[in-house]
Amino acid sequence: MENILVTGGAGFIGSHLTARLLADGHKVVAVDDFTLGSKENVRDCLGCGRFTLIEQDAGDPGMLENLINKYGISRIYHLAANSDIRMSARCPGIDYEKTFRTTYSVAEAMRRTGVKKLFFASTSAVYGEKEGEKLAEDAGGLAPVSYYGGAKLASEAFLSAYTHMNDFETLVFRFPNVIGPGLTHGVVHDFIGKLEKNPEELEILGDGTQRKPYLYVLDLVDAIADFSFRERRGMEIFNIGTDTATTVKEIADLTCERLGLKDVRYAYTGGRSGWKGDVPSFQYDLSKIRAAGWEPPRSSREAVKATLKSIKPSIADGREDEDCRQ
Ligand SMILES: NC(=O)c1ccc[n+]([C@@H]2O[C@H](COP(=O)([O-])OP(=O)(O)OC[C@H]3O[C@@H](n4cnc5c(N)ncnc54)[C@H](O)[C@@H]3O)[C@@H](O)[C@H]2O)c1
Repeated sequence: MENILVTGGAGFIGSHLTARLLADGHKVVAVDDFTLGSKENVRDCLGCGRFTLIEQDAGDPGMLENLINKYGISRIYHLAANSDIRMSARCPGIDYEKTFRTTYSVAEAMRRTGVKKLFFASTSAVYGEKEGEKLAEDAGGLAPVSYYGGAKLASEAFLSAYTHMNDFETLVFRFPNVIGPGLTHGVVHDFIGKLEKNPEELEILGDGTQRKPYLYVLDLVDAIADFSFRERRGMEIFNIGTDTATTVKEIADLTCERLGLKDVRYAYTGGRSGWKGDVPSFQYDLSKIRAAGWEPPRSSREAVKATLKSIKPSIADGREDEDCRQ
């Protein structure tokens, strides 16, 4: 059993990962500045004697160095970042600070303390707009179109150098859209919030044809827990996701169905993208992760349905849960 540091551990994915690592018997220190995460997300972990929650900015390498020494950390999962891509479109410094600088800080604290094992949460946004292509990990010409994607690609590049120079063992997963219980942002979250306010009309950003793969958070966390404990040398990058995809219009339909709402008017803001910097559709080549023994456990549509089933918005109260694998 190991002493593990999870940055962004009180966020959506970080809290599920923390719960999983605790269930596997590890000790977990979660560092989060609570900009987007919350104590509430890790409520169920707080009673566990092997869990410590620390409210700090992970962008400070000295602070991380002290934590690593104090808790005898041997492995780090770096998930802290800005996950609100629309917000950073107005204020790019957020992605420099929260997405890039936290990565430098983690790598530098590892260099100073000799920790070697790292997991990094990257994203499909590093590829940029490559509609019609199947995106493989070794694709050339990566050209992010959001500040977020740029900061993640810069983070990958910095980690590659830190890994080489310091013999790190680094695993990078490029996530697609991740959804599930405890969702804090993204289209499903957005639609539920809007429909709770106005059950008659739903504003849909773009033209509704944006089509992306959605991955269920617990499927992702299972894969992280499995792959991160495999032996590796250097830095290994995997796409993780599904071959299937769901349109924004389909998500709107499934959300209305889940909430028992009929005849909702859809008000499209228009345009192919939801906002400037949004990639309207992409498809992963999953050959590499398949060859390593992983299969997506559910389709994108099943992930959306399972997420909607897990969320208990007030206007869905009393509705019967449907089989989310239909
Ligand atoms: N959810 C997705 O669809 C998705 C897709 C691709 C990649 N990712 C990546 O996965 C990771 C987790 O994303 P998430 O969806 O759980 O988002 P999230 O916002 O719920 O989690 C990120 C956490 O990091 C924390 N944080 C931000 N800046 C920090 C700082 N300076 N110091 C300490 N904590 C800080 C936030 O408070 C939050 O709790 C992120 O790195 C994100 O970029 C997510």
